[in-house]
Amino acid sequence: MTVILDGKKLRDKILEELKTRLEKYDSSPTLVVILVGDNPASRIYVNNKKKTAENLGINSIVINYPSDVEEQVLLDKIHELNSDKNVTAILVQLPLPEHIDKFKIINAISPEKDVDGFTPENSGRLFTGEKPYVYPCTPKGIIRLLDEYEIPIEGKHAVIVGRSNIVGKPLAQMLLNRNATVTICHSRTKNLADITKTADILVSAVGGKIIGINMIQSNCVVVDVGIFKDENGKTRGDVDFDTVAPLTSYITPVPGGVGPMTIAMLMSNTVELFEKNL
Ligand code: GUN
Repeated sequence: MTVILDGKKLRDKILEELKTRLEKYDSSPTLVVILVGDNPASRIYVNNKKKTAENLGINSIVINYPSDVEEQVLLDKIHELNSDKNVTAILVQLPLPEHIDKFKIINAISPEKDVDGFTPENSGRLFTGEKPYVYPCTPKGIIRLLDEYEIPIEGKHAVIVGRSNIVGKPLAQMLLNRNATVTICHSRTKNLADITKTADILVSAVGGKIIGINMIQSNCVVVDVGIFKDENGKTRGDVDFDTVAPLTSYITPVPGGVGPMTIAMLMSNTVELFEKNL
């Protein structure tokens, strides 16, 4: 029997808990989101983050810049936010326009306010085993979802398709920290299906229709991070859900799986940074 991993239901439970946790404080966290340009997907994500934060009583400020903003303007703003005691969390929405060095921007964020866990200090800590201030939101959300359904990780073969700094790489490390055997696949991987067929846990974070029924073994746990609109305007993920789902033990839907968990973990990270700063 296949169980659907319900990210929306778990998100709602987590947000409820966070709201109660925040009620006992006299002050509130302030999350500042920097959005550059007018990428429609980024705009939707940022609006969603703002709305969710406000519902929890988190102050949420979105700073918009035009796509031709100079790198130095962003760096100056980040330095200002770093030294502002009222600001407890900073997020720079990715992707950034080509003329901006994303590493320079991310590196400028103070690690104690780095709500994505993307700075070299936080990612370095993740990779060495020293605790980062917070863990990256999407990988954290995936693991939280697996834990909620009591899906064992230790000793399992986890195959991740996608090697981004946002999902693939940090998730690999976090699963390794939980004693999974981890394989990372990517666009140059040869014989992808031979590898994905050996997965106990398969995570796809590519953003294209790539995972079909011939690529998984039965009873696999499938986590679909991809989300895009197909040629008919339908929201879908990397996995061909209708054919693959019956073969799996657990699977995330798109939408309603990983996406809501990412937002919930962003709120959780915002609260954690705020509490560390009290
Ligand atoms: N763009 C897509 N996902 C993310 C994320 O988790 N954090 C940031 N900052 N940008 C993103």
